[in-house]
Amino acid sequence: MDRRFDGKVAVVTGAGSGFGKAIAERFGHEGASVVLADIDETNGRAVTDALAAAGVDVMFVATDVSQSDQVKRLIDSTVERFGGLDILINNAGFSHRSMLMWELPEEDFDRVFAVNTRGVFLGCKYAIPEMAKRGGGVIINTASIGASCPRPGVTAYNATKGAVVTLTRGLAVEAARFKIRVNAVNPVASETGFMKGALGVERLSEEAKAGLIAGIPLRRLSEPADVAASVTFLASEDASFLTGVCLDVDGGRSIS
Ligand SMILES: NC(=O)c1ccc[n+]([C@@H]2O[C@H](COP(=O)([O-])OP(=O)(O)OC[C@H]3O[C@@H](n4cnc5c(N)ncnc54)[C@H](O)[C@@H]3O)[C@@H](O)[C@H]2O)c1
Repeated sequence: MDRRFDGKVAVVTGAGSGFGKAIAERFGHEGASVVLADIDETNGRAVTDALAAAGVDVMFVATDVSQSDQVKRLIDSTVERFGGLDILINNAGFSHRSMLMWELPEEDFDRVFAVNTRGVFLGCKYAIPEMAKRGGGVIINTASIGASCPRPGVTAYNATKGAVVTLTRGLAVEAARFKIRVNAVNPVASETGFMKGALGVERLSEEAKAGLIAGIPLRRLSEPADVAASVTFLASEDASFLTGVCLDVDGGRSIS
């Protein structure tokens, strides 16, 4: 594997599972020092320990991304341990249980916005001044193809991701003055821990899976490795002229 991130420091939120785990692993295997953050300490520490055993310079910081003091502590402890940060992946997120929007409890609406949208705001708020001191950086937000192609049942969730797409594009212009690039990825459905939150099941039924795949021209769901490959591309020097890009990692779903 190339070592595109030798000497770089990457912070990945939601790194204990799914996309975030694959993203943290890919950055680590490509030479970055990686700070893993997750609200789930057990999973977060397990991924961190496995990377450390593989020789990656890592640190875990238990973090609820919706809480300002915890996100500040994440960035402060990164700077303390590694001297700064170059890359922030705002990936932590979840969906409320699938239901018609007017039936969604108000507290579920508030929580999904607090994590998926406010969490991205807080990550950027504390990371950007540190990246500016370093002369530049890269932020990548995990949005969703649901931002532009919303499926019924997860309307509030999709709205959190629509906000992340708009935030990404607006912030890209603001942060360019510091040579900070801000991009996003828009994955299509993947069988990660996310499904359990949205559907209340460990795995999709074959029927549900076939229904999702039928709407994806490349005829499969996304895998964490697909998202990690796109995120690390956007973070790499090959993408040095890309900012405000919201990359559909969706096998063509958005154009079908
Ligand atoms: N899986 C999909 O179908 C899909 C599709 C598009 C976008 N996404 C997005 O991808 C991102 C990653 O999700 P995933 O599919 O890997 O799911 P996942 O459940 O496997 O992983 C999400 C991780 O985020 C953590 N997390 C949740 N709330 C948190 C909080 N408040 N603070 C810190 N960590 C928190 C979880 O503990 C978990 O480890 C999310 O933003 C999700 O919305 C997922």
